[in-house]
Amino acid sequence: MSDEVLMLVREGVAWITINRPASMNAINNAVREGLPRLLDQAQADSAVRVVVVQGAGPKAFCAGADISEFTTVNSLAQDRQRRVHQHWVSGFDRIRKPTIASIHGYCLGGGLEIALSCDIRIGAENALFGFPETGLGILPAAGGTQRASRVLGLGQALDLVLSGERIDAAHALRIGLISRLCSVDALPAQTQALAERLAGKPPLAMEMAKEAVHQGHEMSLTAGLRLEADLQSLLLNTEDRLEAAAAFREKRPPKFTGQ
Ligand code: COA
Repeated sequence: MSDEVLMLVREGVAWITINRPASMNAINNAVREGLPRLLDQAQADSAVRVVVVQGAGPKAFCAGADISEFTTVNSLAQDRQRRVHQHWVSGFDRIRKPTIASIHGYCLGGGLEIALSCDIRIGAENALFGFPETGLGILPAAGGTQRASRVLGLGQALDLVLSGERIDAAHALRIGLISRLCSVDALPAQTQALAERLAGKPPLAMEMAKEAVHQGHEMSLTAGLRLEADLQSLLLNTEDRLEAAAAFREKRPPKFTGQ
């Protein structure tokens, strides 16, 4: 596999790094193919409890699609191939483990779409967010137009998508684009600490809580409440639930097995 996307597992946390710092981690075909493959690998690896995505180098999380590949109008054959191949952000829809985007510097276009595909976004003070696509004669088509409105609401999503303007980390925090903000230097450690806290929780509860929130968001309240109750019934039958209660009673750290 290309070294333009890397994965390293530490203390139950898989760090996936987009590793093209000279191009601001722009998304080329190697990234498009590698990212979903690594996400599937992380899903299959029982040692991985949480997945973090970050960009290499000091300047960017990811500056979007690699514009140097924008040289020809797509042929029908390319369009067909695009449809046949998995969509490159679909790995985020498949992964049942919690995902965190750890964002510094530029987070533009496809980079913002990756961030929006993650469950939690933590931003450094130098992070800058935006959708430049319309200025390039396209739209954010890796889920951007759909996920932005779901995460931010229609008004903020339309502003970002149509204006193409960049917003800073404080603004992003204010509108809920990130839920946590820290200094640039603290970002890796804060991300790892958050990820380890999530990784230490019962994996099935994490998986089902994530499913309840994501699936429920696309349902009526009645259907969502039904789903929530069904998933809770499954969790009430798990050994980890009994272990959590026993550990509390016995004043000791719990040992979760994922059963
Ligand atoms: N695709 C390909 N290369 C990119 C890129 C992208 N999306 N974003 C940055 N790069 C490359 C630049 O071409 C440059 O390469 P070079 O050193 O070989 O010339 C290098 O990364 C550094 O970028 P540069 O523009 O010199 O840095 P900057 O700090 O002045 O500006 C950005 C940074 C991110 C604001 C600017 O590069 C930019 O606007 N990039 C395009 C973002 C975009 O429109 N993305 C959406 C695509 S749909």
